[in-house]
Amino acid sequence: MKKYSICIVGGASRYTPDMLAMLCNQKDRFPLKKIVLYDNESERQNIVGKYAEILFKEYYPELEEIIYTTDEKEAFKDIDFALMQIRAGRLKMREKDEKISLKHECLGQETCGPGGFAYGLRSVPAVINLIKSIRTYSSECWILNYSNPAAIVAEATKRVFPSDYRIINICDMPIAIMDIYASVLGLKRRDLEPKYFGLNHFGWFTHILNKKTGEDYLPKLREILKTPVDVQTEPLFKEPSWKATFEFMSQMINDYDEYLPNTYLQYYLYPNKMRDKENPEYTRANEVIDGNEKETYGRLREIISLGKIRGTKYEITSDVGCHAEYIVDLATAIANNTNEIFLTITENNGAIQNVSSGMMVEVPCRVGSNGVEPLAVGSIPTFYKGLMENQYAYEKLSVDACLEGSYQKALQALVLNRTVVNTNIAKELLEDLMEANKGYWNELR
Ligand code: G6P
Ligand code: MN
Repeated sequence: MKKYSICIVGGASRYTPDMLAMLCNQKDRFPLKKIVLYDNESERQNIVGKYAEILFKEYYPELEEIIYTTDEKEAFKDIDFALMQIRAGRLKMREKDEKISLKHECLGQETCGPGGFAYGLRSVPAVINLIKSIRTYSSECWILNYSNPAAIVAEATKRVFPSDYRIINICDMPIAIMDIYASVLGLKRRDLEPKYFGLNHFGWFTHILNKKTGEDYLPKLREILKTPVDVQTEPLFKEPSWKATFEFMSQMINDYDEYLPNTYLQYYLYPNKMRDKENPEYTRANEVIDGNEKETYGRLREIISLGKIRGTKYEITSDVGCHAEYIVDLATAIANNTNEIFLTITENNGAIQNVSSGMMVEVPCRVGSNGVEPLAVGSIPTFYKGLMENQYAYEKLSVDACLEGSYQKALQALVLNRTVVNTNIAKELLEDLMEANKGYWNELR
């Protein structure tokens, strides 16, 4: 079996340690010879890197090379896959995104609303520069991108690298939601095949099929999920704010009589309610900084001082890191040309009949060694088409604003966003966001 070389771009992320443990568990399926961690923050990268050395010594002795570096050439040369998970401006800027939004009475959220817009204008230049650099050193590697806000990032990568089919944009949320469906049905996610359409963080499941029998569980799931469920899922989603998000699915299912919505639709369909739930002094960024982030780096520091994992309370179990497993699923589908079906963010090209062919949609796609091919969805009803076209216009204008440095387009984008709408508020937001994002955003004129 061929062994692969991969680089995790954003290697110092709090998501990396679980991802590395997961790669240890997946070595039979996705054997590796080299793992590179690349980040532009050397201090954090060193912590994750030292942890990785201990981990791989104990759990992946077959690995030939482990590199952690802030040097792009060292990181990107001779790799088969780049897994991109960067957060431009880190959680500090996420906190500003959320708090500035709330100050102007809009909801404060990582990828939706003005917060997502601000993050998009930081992410796009950073992702583009990194992809250019990756292409300098590994012209043919696969770039599996899940940097947020994925909708805006995907629109930008399509525009800047139009013929580069080895860039794939993907999000884990549909998978996380399907884990919930599987758990309430008493099945495994891998038993289920979704039919779905939408944009990233903006879509609907239309069928949840049993892969073997073809039975559609959607009607049954809608009935079950009309009552809030206490989700049995992985640690991230056990946190109170995620618990509330999953409980709110029931509201959307009760209010709308078809399909099953992506949880992120709560922000667009109930923007004021979501805003009112938030604490403007202590947002999700604060929760993550004080919670998961602190916990993760604390754990790594302790492991480094112990110099071992085996025989400590940090032993890796065989089910760790299931969250990021979909990335390995995706990589193996490409490597082995399996043509398995994944929900990815890709150019519509007629998959949804009655929206534009250039729209970056999230739909089921066949994935193999020639890349991603969207499957036919058919026509969608007016309500969804209207919502999607409005949201996609917002996404396009956000990318225009960024690539052209256009204030007008930025203003138009924000006004189109369902969580903003008012021109006067959009102008005030832009003033504060431009100030806060100096050095991250392309200048808007
Ligand atoms: C889900 C989404 C991601 C998002 C993540 C973390 O996995 O698909 O796009 O970044 O949740 O959100 P959090 O608020 O927990 O940082
Ligand atoms: Mn996502």
